[in-house]
Amino acid sequence: MGAGMRRKLAAGNWKMNGLLADLAQLDQLAKAPLPPHIDTLICPPATLIHPAIAQTRASALAIGAQDCHAQSAGAFTGDISALQLRDLGASAVILGHSERREGHGESDQLVAAKAHAAQAAGLCAIICLGETLAQRQAGDTLQVIGAQCAGSVPATLDPALLVLAYEPVWAIGSGLIPTLPQIAEVHSALRAALAARFGAEAAHTVRLLYGGSVKPDNAAEVFGVADVDGALVGGASLNAQDFSAIVQALAAA
Ligand code: 13P
Repeated sequence: MGAGMRRKLAAGNWKMNGLLADLAQLDQLAKAPLPPHIDTLICPPATLIHPAIAQTRASALAIGAQDCHAQSAGAFTGDISALQLRDLGASAVILGHSERREGHGESDQLVAAKAHAAQAAGLCAIICLGETLAQRQAGDTLQVIGAQCAGSVPATLDPALLVLAYEPVWAIGSGLIPTLPQIAEVHSALRAALAARFGAEAAHTVRLLYGGSVKPDNAAEVFGVADVDGALVGGASLNAQDFSAIVQALAAA
């Protein structure tokens, strides 16, 4: 993952999809020439992280995880630590995805603790934030995002190992995306929140991703929005051809 300058980032979140046979998609991705001026990351399920890293070692494609525990080791049956992910060669971990906030009751406080653990292990923490449809319809989007950001992204984090992903809950897997001004409004608010937290210079280096129904046919317009530094892609990242098209759109933006 690039440091210093704000390199664009195309990240794929496979969620609980993918068997060993699906690693062929990575081969296809890694074989196509990846644009050298952007970062490309796939976060497969934990079961595939090791073979995915072994398989893509020679390429610029980075491999990350979808969650980690807040502790580095201990009696936590079924959990995986950031240290263990780093040990495999993972470079990033998605944290606070709405599917974990909702399905596993993850609080902002827990997400922040996980982010500290991730960074302590040398992983880039990709922290997800997003409003529900009811919250958007009530006009509470910026307030909700602000509160999530305040709780999940403490000033004690290292901005050099931090990415934020704006993922409106109602846009995930629905085929719906916010209007471009709505995306711009949230990303601009996030940039301002980061500047207040880390100072303008450091805030400028943090990538802000948009996530939620990003597809080859809408990627270019999303990437044209100010302060959108890339995407966190779910469904379309499962298919090498679709994800490549999104990567190319980002490279051209
Ligand atoms: P979709 O791209 O399938 O809407 O998922 C987005 C997402 O949740 C990525 O983390």
